Amino acid sequence: MDNKVEIIEVGPRDGFQSVTCAHIPLQEKLELIGDLVSVGVRHMEFTSFVSPKAIPQLADAGEITKAVLETYPDLDMFALVPNLRGAKNAYESGLQKVCYVVSLSASHNQANINRTHEQSLASFREIKDTYPDMEIIVDLATAFGCPFEGKYRDPYRVKEFLKDYVEAGMKTCCLCDTIGIADPAQVKGLIAVLQEAYPDLGLMVHFHDTRGSGLANSLAAIEAGVVRLQSALGGLGGCPFAPGASGNLSTEDLVWVLEEMGYETGICFHELLKTAKKQAGMIQGNYSGHQIHIRD
Ligand code: COA
Ligand code: ZN
Repeated sequence: MDNKVEIIEVGPRDGFQSVTCAHIPLQEKLELIGDLVSVGVRHMEFTSFVSPKAIPQLADAGEITKAVLETYPDLDMFALVPNLRGAKNAYESGLQKVCYVVSLSASHNQANINRTHEQSLASFREIKDTYPDMEIIVDLATAFGCPFEGKYRDPYRVKEFLKDYVEAGMKTCCLCDTIGIADPAQVKGLIAVLQEAYPDLGLMVHFHDTRGSGLANSLAAIEAGVVRLQSALGGLGGCPFAPGASGNLSTEDLVWVLEEMGYETGICFHELLKTAKKQAGMIQGNYSGHQIHIRD
């Protein structure tokens, strides 16, 4: 068996966007990104080019991108964009890779990015046309269920939704469990349907851990043949526009289980744990009244 898996760290984007009580300085963000790289992280979604009114914490996206690209030119670093304006800003900051977010749920799409499905598809096509060389992952938010509409049990609904994106040139799709409502059987069922319908489509997964099912869902995805998994240091994060959403699957937990099982993540668990504790101390001490517990 090929035992390599790709861990994509999303904490600097998905985690920091949820730290709403104070601004984290650019230098501290860069220090944490540096720590993540030094423990072996090679793939990272490190910021978003979104409205600073919607996500004030990531208003420094342009500056952070320039610093990250200069320091880590050979790593797989990318940012989230919600529209052409975000893609333009990302491109002009030097990024060649972004992820474009759309929700399977029409109501969450409206709450999150204030677009109808038709507008989101049109915007994706516009970005593809404007930046044909840019690599664009489509982040399918609420792929397994929605905070407003409940759980989606029919995988063919996802397949139908993605058809237009595949036809518009989508090469990779990340199935995001925005509120942590997925279960392992659903994960396997959905991946099997998508693999059969779109054999050339690259798949990634992104699980939240609301009911402690993030690890089980990640393992189910691996069993179904997906080797690219997203997670966030310290389990930090969640969508500010999904009521009740809790944290991401923590990178420490994912790395520990996978390494114990014999998979190669390329990440040193013990050093990663130190970084998670450092981040928890930093956020708890300076920016948040919340208790953050990192398990030893
Ligand atoms: N980057 C920075 N600013 C942007 C922007 C972008 N990508 N897109 C729009 N804006 C600005 C506009 O210039 C405008 O500014 P102004 O009020 O000073 O004139 C304002 O945002 C509203 O622009 P509009 O095009 O009307 O967008 P909107 O109000 O419909 O908001 C989004 C749409 C997508 C820009 C906004 O909802 C957003 O950024 N959401 C964040 C979603 C997110 O990150 N969710 C969590 C991760 S999934
Ligand atoms: Zn997330």
